[in-house]
Amino acid sequence: MIDRIGTIPEHVRRIGRIHHVAVVVREIESALEFWRDDLGLAVGAVQPIPSDRVVIAFLPLGDVKVELVAPTDDTTGVARFLASRGEGFHHICLEVDDIAAALTRLAIDGVELIDSAPRPGAEGPVAFLHPRSCHGVLVELIEVPGGPSWRSLYPSGFVAPDAIRQV
Ligand code: CO
Repeated sequence: MIDRIGTIPEHVRRIGRIHHVAVVVREIESALEFWRDDLGLAVGAVQPIPSDRVVIAFLPLGDVKVELVAPTDDTTGVARFLASRGEGFHHICLEVDDIAAALTRLAIDGVELIDSAPRPGAEGPVAFLHPRSCHGVLVELIEVPGGPSWRSLYPSGFVAPDAIRQV
């Protein structure tokens, strides 16, 4: 690997923090019996993401969230993951300042991208990197609020998917 650290601007290079860790579950309510009832985590919101054919629940834990993801039909990658591997760890989401710039830089470095451009996620612009290039881990990038992709993806302002239940 070529060390390009010195030539890459800070806003492209910087990984801000772990934004969330996602777990695929068969069904949100039964998963909450562990995460909420046994572990005692608070549930921020449960949201259907129709474009991804999943329902998600965010459980804030300090500065990071645990995201539970349950497929709503059997056509998606998440559903195939569940069918072939069962419930379990699915992806880690890292915060960056500028997703488009980060994707360009990673592609130049030979990292295989699932999303070649930022797309709307539950909490802002996101893009996924292929686990083949990430030592077996599915990596999601999310852009910090107010970054350049927010302006291009949400020209009239960000609207979060409707929460079906606030807890
Ligand atoms: Co995620």
